Amino acid sequence: MGFKQGFLWGGATAANQVEGGYDEDGRGLANVDVVPVGEDRFSIITGQVKHLDFDNQHFYPAKEAIDMYHRYKEDIALFAEMGFSTYRLSISWSRIFPKGDEKEPNEEGLVFYENLFKECQKYNIEPLVTITHFDIPMHLIKEYGGWRNRKVVDFYEKLCRVLFNRYKGLVKYWLTFNEINLLLHAPFMGAGIVFEKGENQKEVKYIAAHHELIASALATKIAHEVDPENQVGCMLAGGKFYPMTPNPLDVFAAQKADRENYFFIDVQSQGEYPPYALKELEREGIEVPFKKGDKELLKDNTVDFISFSYYSTRVASANTEDMDQGEANLLSTVDNPYLESTEWGWQVDPLGFRITMNDIYDRYRKPLFVVENGLGAIDTPDEDGYVEDDYRIKYLADHIQSMKDAVELDGIELLGYTTWGPIDLVSAGTGEMSKRYGFIYVDRDDYGNGTLKRTKKKSFNWYKKVIETNGEDL
Ligand code: BG6
Repeated sequence: MGFKQGFLWGGATAANQVEGGYDEDGRGLANVDVVPVGEDRFSIITGQVKHLDFDNQHFYPAKEAIDMYHRYKEDIALFAEMGFSTYRLSISWSRIFPKGDEKEPNEEGLVFYENLFKECQKYNIEPLVTITHFDIPMHLIKEYGGWRNRKVVDFYEKLCRVLFNRYKGLVKYWLTFNEINLLLHAPFMGAGIVFEKGENQKEVKYIAAHHELIASALATKIAHEVDPENQVGCMLAGGKFYPMTPNPLDVFAAQKADRENYFFIDVQSQGEYPPYALKELEREGIEVPFKKGDKELLKDNTVDFISFSYYSTRVASANTEDMDQGEANLLSTVDNPYLESTEWGWQVDPLGFRITMNDIYDRYRKPLFVVENGLGAIDTPDEDGYVEDDYRIKYLADHIQSMKDAVELDGIELLGYTTWGPIDLVSAGTGEMSKRYGFIYVDRDDYGNGTLKRTKKKSFNWYKKVIETNGEDL
């Protein structure tokens, strides 16, 4: 019983949150580079597309991040020491195509990931590669308007062809878009969208969504053509919506909120737009820019597995004003009085993890892969840099237990589990370093001070033991 033999254990990161080296070896500027730490993180973006660049008033954490660009060997060795059998990472698009629309890729960028994958291979770590994790070259935003433009599908297709061919035999597991549903909530990160004055924002978002869905199906198609061994997954920012009360109006609001997110996975997994979405878009006069062949492409190229992140459940109310009480991974929610919250106000709900997994599995009946889960917390290291993070151990143990229940008691097919940020990294939501998820402490603060030294926390040996016992000893 328990997790099957060969269950993949590991951790997950994203290029812009760990690599740094933002202008090295020919890399071009990306959307994620120009978002600063702090309250201005996303607000400075609105309406400034032509001027989007660095300024002197802000600190831009992605420029150096935790310098994994130069330290990946040390970091992967630490992951191997914990016993990782998988490592989820993402490609920085602008390392491969600095502007996005070049004819030829940047060889130095390709070599970087090739070496990194070979390093993983050395330790029998299976890479799980996210092709785009909140990442698009700035040039594609400034010149083409980001994913609102169908031409970006062609550029992405080219990127995929290069990646699948070059890394054939080194990478088998691919994810097309990180948390694709967050495009609706963070369109600059999710799709490189900067709105123009007066435009119908919802329409722009669904046009961009269509383009990403087409791109995702194309990627799936090409991945399978290049190597039938390739396994391609979609990626949902998961977390079920509970109704605030049994009032049918709240129940309906929760169903609607869930569907808003599942919409993307419905298309990627079932191969067609679900009727509820078509009806809603039609009612609102939003025309999905279907081109000849799109429907067949979606239908014929559904994903092999469903991956998702889980941090918390959410609560929906029919009264939209209630929905601003809290935040759960960029989605607004009502505060749930039955749950405790983290220092960043994300509510902790291990049983909700099992509920969410069941919901997804009931809906799609494809293997699941949990590719993010974890606790963002303030760590206080002693003079040697050691952190006694029992709170993190508890959070993860409770969630792994719940995941185990979903497998053992509910019969869910699960491929693996990667915790978010096995090494401390830059927060996507806030740009802070102080929101730490890692088993490995990185000496760096929110404004770039620190030695970048890596130190194992208490949770390091704990996770090692969890992996060694295939999840038996929590
Ligand atoms: C997910 C993202 O939304 O949650 C990650 O895929 C992100 O990039 C993670 O870092 C945790 O969110 P945050 O805001 O705490 O970094």
